[in-house]
Order: sequence, then structure tokens, then C-alpha cells
Amino acid sequence: MIKIGEATLDDLPGITDIYNEAILKTLATFDTEPKTLAEQETWFMRHGAKNPIIVAEEKDVIVGWAALSEWSERCAYADAAEVSLYVKEEHQGRGIGRRLLEYLVEKGKEVGLHTIVARIAEGNEISVHLHKSLGFQHIGVMREVGRKFGRLLDVHLMQKIYYEDTKARDKRQGNSVENVTLNQ
Ligand SMILES: CC(C)(COP(=O)(O)OP(=O)(O)OC[C@H]1O[C@@H](n2cnc3c(N)ncnc32)[C@H](O)[C@@H]1OP(=O)(O)O)[C@@H](O)C(=O)NCCC(=O)NCCS
Repeated sequence: MIKIGEATLDDLPGITDIYNEAILKTLATFDTEPKTLAEQETWFMRHGAKNPIIVAEEKDVIVGWAALSEWSERCAYADAAEVSLYVKEEHQGRGIGRRLLEYLVEKGKEVGLHTIVARIAEGNEISVHLHKSLGFQHIGVMREVGRKFGRLLDVHLMQKIYYEDTKARDKRQGNSVENVTLNQ
């Protein structure tokens, strides 16, 4: 049975193994060098109450993980976070990625995030499909921003906004794009 829940520091070696496998073999992450446990500890500690890390566990083995990391350290971005999602190679295609992402999306809402964003390397149709099916919209493409395994790569941006009444709120507050006067 697969159990999904919040990650603890004890899960870090399992999380790191899965991430390092993806670094070395896939275009899913634009990291190119494997992470040490010490680096991963720093990463883990940067995730406060608003930035959950979750794991999927089967028979006490970590088979997948996902996180909502800070989109930016700048304070005004505090209600935005970025998705990471990884399933151990031999466990892919068993529905674990979907369960992790469903849980993560719920968590993001629970902790009060306003929006969550995914950066997906070109060609990752499974990830695009998965995000789309959970309410993410394709909002753009950053052309040729990555280079890995000798290839230039586009990155697709997908976004989910939890509270779709944003436009109505902005109008009330006079923040709609139409009302913004740009300095010449
Ligand atoms: C992307 C990833 C997280 C998906 O997790 P997974 O456990 O393999 O995926 P699931 O089994 O939950 O399947 C997710 C969906 O993709 C579909 N899918 C799975 N394998 C597929 C394939 N080879 N081709 C097309 N669709 C596929 C499934 O049918 C499912 O859709 P459905 O629920 O509508 O039927 C996982 O493959 C992975 O870790 N890949 C490497 C890292 C990565 O790409 N991370 C995402 C970075 S943005």
C-alpha cells in the first residue's frame, strides 16, 4: 500500500536518491550535478509551514516525493510556490505521481498559498498532462533557457490559481491592468 504524507528529515536520503537519479538521467530538472545530503538538508530547511514537502512510501521505502518550494525569496511572492514532483524510475506509471500531485495541490490550498506554478521542460508530456488534469493552465513558454545533455531546451510554464475571483478583487481594489498608468 502506498502512503502519502508530510516528509521528515529521515526521508531525506530517499528523496535525494530519487532526485539524483532524475538529475543524472532526465531533463525533468535543470540541476546537472548530484546533490549531497548536506545540500539537501539546506534545501529541506528552507521549506517552512507554507512550503510543504511530501513523500510517497511503500513498505518503508520512499518511492516518490513532491514539494511546493518558494517561488522567490522576495516577500511579495510569499503566496506563490513552485511544484517539484518525482517518482522513482521503477515505480513510474503506477499512479503515484498523480496521487502525490493531488495531495500537494490540496496542501497548497490548506497552507494558504494563492497560486502554484510548474516549470516543465519541453517534451515532458506526462507532466503536462498531469498538471492540466489538476487544473493548471499553460501560461507560456520560455524559449531555449536551458541546456542539458548537449541540447537547448524550452521550458513550459503552467499555473494554478486557487481563488479564481482574483480579477473581481483586483477591479474592486483598482488594480486592473487598465487602471495602471505607466511612467513615460
Ligand atoms: C512525471 C512523473 C512525476 C509522473 O508520475 P507517474 O507516477 O509516473 O505518473 P502516473 O502513473 O501517476 O500517471 C500520470 C498520468 O500520466 C499518464 N502516463 C503515465 N505514463 C505515461 C506515458 N508513458 N505516456 C503517456 N502518458 C502516461 C497516466 O496515464 C496518467 O494519466 P491519467 O491518470 O489521466 O491516466 C514521473 O514519471 C517522474 O517522476 N518523471 C521524472 C521526473 C519528472 O518528469 N517530474 C516532473 C517534473 S515537472
